[in-house]
Amino acid sequence: MNALAATSRNFRHAARLLGLDSKVEKSLLIPFREIKVECTIPKDDGTLVSYVGFRVQHDNARGPMKGGIRYHPEVDPDEVNALAQLMTWKSAVADIPYGGAKGGIGCNPGDLSKTELERLTRVFTQKIHDLIGVHTDVPAPDMGTNAQTMAWILDEYSKFHGHSPAVVTGKPIDLGGSLGREAATGRGVVFATEALLAEHGKSIKDLTFAIQGFGNVGSWAAKLVHERGGKVIAVSDVTGAVKNPNGIDIPELLRHKETTGSLKDFQGAESMDANELLIHKCDVLIPCALGGVLNRENAADVKAKFIIEAANHPTDPEADEILAKKGVVVLPDIYANSGGVTVSYFEWVQNIQGFMWDEQQVNNTLQNYMTRAFHNIKSMCQTHDCNLRMGAFTLGMKSPIHYYRNVFIGSCSGLEILPISTYQNQMLPLLQLLILTLEICCDLQLEI
Ligand SMILES: NC(=O)c1ccc[n+]([C@@H]2O[C@H](COP(=O)([O-])OP(=O)(O)OC[C@H]3O[C@@H](n4cnc5c(N)ncnc54)[C@H](O)[C@@H]3O)[C@@H](O)[C@H]2O)c1
Repeated sequence: MNALAATSRNFRHAARLLGLDSKVEKSLLIPFREIKVECTIPKDDGTLVSYVGFRVQHDNARGPMKGGIRYHPEVDPDEVNALAQLMTWKSAVADIPYGGAKGGIGCNPGDLSKTELERLTRVFTQKIHDLIGVHTDVPAPDMGTNAQTMAWILDEYSKFHGHSPAVVTGKPIDLGGSLGREAATGRGVVFATEALLAEHGKSIKDLTFAIQGFGNVGSWAAKLVHERGGKVIAVSDVTGAVKNPNGIDIPELLRHKETTGSLKDFQGAESMDANELLIHKCDVLIPCALGGVLNRENAADVKAKFIIEAANHPTDPEADEILAKKGVVVLPDIYANSGGVTVSYFEWVQNIQGFMWDEQQVNNTLQNYMTRAFHNIKSMCQTHDCNLRMGAFTLGMKSPIHYYRNVFIGSCSGLEILPISTYQNQMLPLLQLLILTLEICCDLQLEI
C-alpha cells in the first residue's frame, strides 16, 4: 500500500475514534502547501543533470512547520505528503510547538560527489528559500542527508535573509547545532523501547534485537541497546546483513563499517540474507531504514514480540492487522522516532535564546519528553480502547483539532478562517511595503 494511502487510512480510523467532524477531517488531510521545484546542476565533468525537489508543508496550527529533507531515488510526492502529515501528528505527540512538513530530492546521493551534492543542495535552497524560515518551516536531516547538508542550506538561506542559524536543525555544532542531536533519534528510540518494555515487566538487558538499517538512527539505536546489555543478534543495511546468536560486538561493527563502508566481511558475525532480517527470530525488531518494509507479504512470518518503528511508516495497515492477530506489540513511528524532532526543537530554542545547553541536559530533557509522551499515549489507548498506533494518532490529532475548533468558533459566515500564522506570513510583505513607502515619503519629505 502506498505511503499516503496507509497514513490517510490510519488518520481516518483515528478521526472516527475522536468523532471528528468531516469538514475538520478534510481540512486536516489537505496539506497547507505543496512545493515542487526543478534543480539543474552542472556535474563535475561539466554535463548538466536535473532533479526534482519537493517540500510539503502539512499544517501550521501549532507552530512553524518542521520536518526532514531526504535524498533518495524513491522520493515521490505521495511519500513526502504522507511523511509531512506524520510530522504534524509527531510534533503534537511529543508536545513541541511545531506543525509538520517534509521534503526531498529524487536522487541517489551515493552517485554524487561532495561538490555535486553541495551544488544540488544550494540550488534547492535557492528555489525554496522564500517559503522556509525560522518561524515558518524549519528543515532537518533525514535519509541521505546530514549535518553537512544542513550547513549548506543554512549558508545559502543566510545569503538571502541574513544570518539565521534557527532556519535548520541538525546542523554542525560549530554552526549552532545542539549537543546530542546526532544521536537523538536513536537515543529516543531506546528511551521509547525502555518505556514500552517496562509496561511489560521486561528490560533491554534480557532481550535479543534485530535492527534493519545501520545509518544514523540504526547505528545509534544498536550502540545504545548494546551499552544497556541488550543482545543485538542481527543487523542489515543496503550493503548486506550479518548475524550472531551470541550478540554482535556493535562498537567493532561500527569500526568495520567506518573503515570499509560496508557490513560485508565482518569477522565477528556470519553474513545472512538481508531479506531474512525482518523475519529473524528475536524479541525486538527495530526497522531503521525504509517505509513499507513490513507488509502483507512478510508480516505473518515476523517472529519478534515487539516492533519499534524507528523508520517512518515501516509497517503498512495490512501488516498491522496481521501482527495484531499474532499478538505482536507495535510501537508506532510518530512516537518511537520522535527523539530527533524533539532535540531539533531544543536546538531551535537554543539558537533563538543564543544559549547552549550541555549534552546531559539535552539527554535528560529528551528522556522526560519521551516518557511523558508514552504515558499520554497509554492514556489515549484507555480512553478510546485502542492499540498504541491509534493511541498515538488520536493524541497527535487532538491538539491541532482543538486549535481549529477554537479559531473556527465565532467565524464570520462565508469567510475563510486561517490559522493566525498564515496571516502573519501574508501580512509580512505588506508591512514591509508599507514601511518602505513611509521611508521613501520621509526621504522625499512628502506629506502623507
Ligand atoms: N535521522 C533522523 O533524525 C530521523 C528522525 C526520524 C525518523 N527517521 C527515519 O529513520 C529512517 C532512517 O533514517 P537515517 O537518518 O538513519 O538514514 P540514513 O541514511 O543515515 O540510514 C539509512 C540506513 O538504511 C539502510 N538501508 C537503505 N535501504 C535498505 C534496505 N533495502 N535494506 C536494509 N537497509 C537499508 C542504509 O544502508 C542505511 O544504513 C528513515 O525512515 C527516516 O525517515 C530519521
